[in-house]
Amino acid sequence: MEKVTQALNGLLGWVDDRFPLSKMWNEHLARYYAPKNFNFWYFFGSLALFVLVIQIVTGIWLTMNYKPSAEHAFASVEYIMRDVEWGWWMRYMHSTGASAFFIVIYLHMFRALLYGSYKKPRELLWLTGMIIYFTLMGEAFFGYLLPWGQMSYWGAQVIISLFGALPWIGDDLALLIRGDFVVSDVTLNRFFSLHVIALPLVLCGLVAAHILALHEVGSNNPDGIEIKKNKDANGVPLDGIPFHPYYTVKDIVGVVVFLIFFCAVVFFAPEMGGYFLEHANFIPADPLKTPEHIAPVWYFTPFYAILRAVPNQLGGVIAMGASTVLFMFLPWLDRSPVKSIRYRGRKYKTALALFVISFITLGYLGMQPATPTFTWIARFFSVIYFAFFLLMPFYTRTDDDKPVPERVR
Ligand code: HEM
Repeated sequence: MEKVTQALNGLLGWVDDRFPLSKMWNEHLARYYAPKNFNFWYFFGSLALFVLVIQIVTGIWLTMNYKPSAEHAFASVEYIMRDVEWGWWMRYMHSTGASAFFIVIYLHMFRALLYGSYKKPRELLWLTGMIIYFTLMGEAFFGYLLPWGQMSYWGAQVIISLFGALPWIGDDLALLIRGDFVVSDVTLNRFFSLHVIALPLVLCGLVAAHILALHEVGSNNPDGIEIKKNKDANGVPLDGIPFHPYYTVKDIVGVVVFLIFFCAVVFFAPEMGGYFLEHANFIPADPLKTPEHIAPVWYFTPFYAILRAVPNQLGGVIAMGASTVLFMFLPWLDRSPVKSIRYRGRKYKTALALFVISFITLGYLGMQPATPTFTWIARFFSVIYFAFFLLMPFYTRTDDDKPVPERVR
């Protein structure tokens, strides 16, 4: 046994002389000191990474049998579901993974709103996160066309035509995205290439930048206290513990709990009542027949409701764009000296609660037909949604924040 250890140490030394393996291990795991008070909300970063891996692996297997052509796409998905061994499993993992990704990411982002994780010095960490979020939206949008069902087709048609509403460049831009005057085989081909290689590559690069930015400044925590301010004689934060083994083990618990829910959906309710796989998408795309009711998948519906709440089309497109882009400005809109919700005053707590209610209500409304009553309710909640961001400099500056302790609790 001793000889084996010696040989392995020798091999490691050989590698370390040529590649910074131990250095990276220490810098990012064994001697990366994370705050000791992480809670449930801190599971979602590692879970996002886990879901990314699920999507890439199942995506590779799906691509082995999928055919990106208007003629064969729908049938090739049916073939995967019925004839390819374990094909149904790969497909359900991938379709459930798409929704799981957004659930995890929304909770991951909400954690930042709870604990002020976007605030100085984590602005770039937040911005890389936002670019990941936009890329993920693109990835989901491109992927949704691939099964070539009715909702794939008409959803893409509606969203691409929104770009046509932009002044001057609109029509040319829509043409560039489609590659044709209508959504067609050409569109399917380019969406396939973007979904399978371009955006996943960008996503992986961005995730690496995200983790590097995180490790440069260090993690925030539920108390919103910078642990780097209190270090011992060796320069180790007093309230920090090595990421490995403490949080690697804790994150495995998160993965196991996640897998229980994930497998329950994959094996028992993969369509999730039409929320994860829409009913209309089991009908092959028909360019001559518009479905009665076109709605995007649930993770886009809050923004879709905002789009429909504005009477003018260009205004709607601008409002929808603004409703996502505004998140990027949070580090500068938030004027409170306090990070964590634990020490924030009543104003921020109320604003955040109203924001969550409006986000969920808009999400629900975006799935419903745009009746006059629903449209008015969507208008009301859109105003609350935007007020959360636009009034933030005022209510955070004048809030009755509580004193923040010196050390984490
Ligand atoms: C593929 C997508 C993503 C992956 C794999 C990912 C991964 C991670 C990981 C592993 C962490 C550290 C663990 C944790 O704090 O939970 C983290 C932290 C963080 N992420 Fe992400 N992330 C992703 C997307 C996003 C998005 C979309 C945002 C926001 C727009 C974001 C904002 C943050 C922030 C602010 C932190 C620091 C939180 C703190 O220290 O309190 N991330 N991310």
